[in-house]
Amino acid sequence: MSEPIRVVVTGAAGQIAYSLIYMLSRGEVFGYDQPIILHLLDIPPMMEVLEGVVMEITDCALPLVVGVVPTADLSVAFKDVEAAFMVGSMPRKKGMERKDLLSANVKIFKEQGEALDKYAKKDVKVLVVGNPANTNALMCSKFAPSIPKENFSAMTRLDQNRAQAAVANRLGLRINQVRNVTIWGNHSSTQFPDAFHASAQINGIWKPVAEALNNSPWLKDEFVTTVQNRGAAVIAARKMSSAMSAAKAAADHMKDIWHGTAPGTYTSMAVLSDGSYGVPADIMFSFPVTIANKQWKIVQGLSVDDFSRSKLDVTAKELLEEKQDAVALCQD
Ligand code: NAI
Repeated sequence: MSEPIRVVVTGAAGQIAYSLIYMLSRGEVFGYDQPIILHLLDIPPMMEVLEGVVMEITDCALPLVVGVVPTADLSVAFKDVEAAFMVGSMPRKKGMERKDLLSANVKIFKEQGEALDKYAKKDVKVLVVGNPANTNALMCSKFAPSIPKENFSAMTRLDQNRAQAAVANRLGLRINQVRNVTIWGNHSSTQFPDAFHASAQINGIWKPVAEALNNSPWLKDEFVTTVQNRGAAVIAARKMSSAMSAAKAAADHMKDIWHGTAPGTYTSMAVLSDGSYGVPADIMFSFPVTIANKQWKIVQGLSVDDFSRSKLDVTAKELLEEKQDAVALCQD
């Protein structure tokens, strides 16, 4: 067996972490022969709840978990970690404006970026889940200058999984018979779920999803709005936000970083824009990427028609505004 790796989950007493920790502990992300030491960070008032989570981890009798470190101390949480799931954040409370939420969370990610910079391994892979995820990831990386910017990403995999499932349902296919659905932009209702470059396996042959659907207008209207609003629909039904599916998406995202994407496939994640597809540079924008040797590359050369262009521009504009607000808040 290999040497254990240290993995931190922030917001460890929360609902996403409750599912995620189990997936990590089973070996679903880093491998079924990779022991891990779990670092679990939450805020001081949650330490008792976190203790309960630790008891449950113990009671699961998981062979790959060789250590658990529950803490509210950033210097302990981020010490020598090789992978970081940044889930912890302040939820939106009644009467809170978007800017108040941004303010609270950007400050958390500034502080945690500084701690990653100081204590984590320099090759740590950082996945930001806590909202507003794209802008939190940008600020986290800005305050961790000694860690390569490419090591930071924000999660749009839940949106991608939702979009892939919607296409598979529409075509009456299994989930793995649909590939290369892309999420562009922000993890918010301005995101652009794009199935125009996706393929579906029909009677053993891969063909474009648009062709399989006879160029149905569904791809431009209902599909897009359903995926954009899926999070709100889950909250309306469950009275709580997506947790099991968010944890699965976080696991999928980090697993792809660790082990790479399969040949012929790509995945969506928010990474630092280099200006590809006319997207402004220096925002965390969700692109289609391939991954090998733990390094992502933005897929180039996909066609962008006027419809897609307008969608990309809307979500990029929102991210530029969020960035502007976040930078101003960090100077306060
Ligand atoms: P939750 O409220 O159940 O758990 C959040 C946990 O974070 C709480 O235990 C809280 O005490 C902790 N926390 C707050 N401030 C912290 C800090 N400074 N350091 C460490 N921990 C801190 O929330 P849940 O459902 O687990 O969601 C977590 C975040 O993930 C939210 O921001 C949510 O909006 C976001 N999310 C993102 C998705 C995505 O696709 N990117 C999908 C679903 C949720």
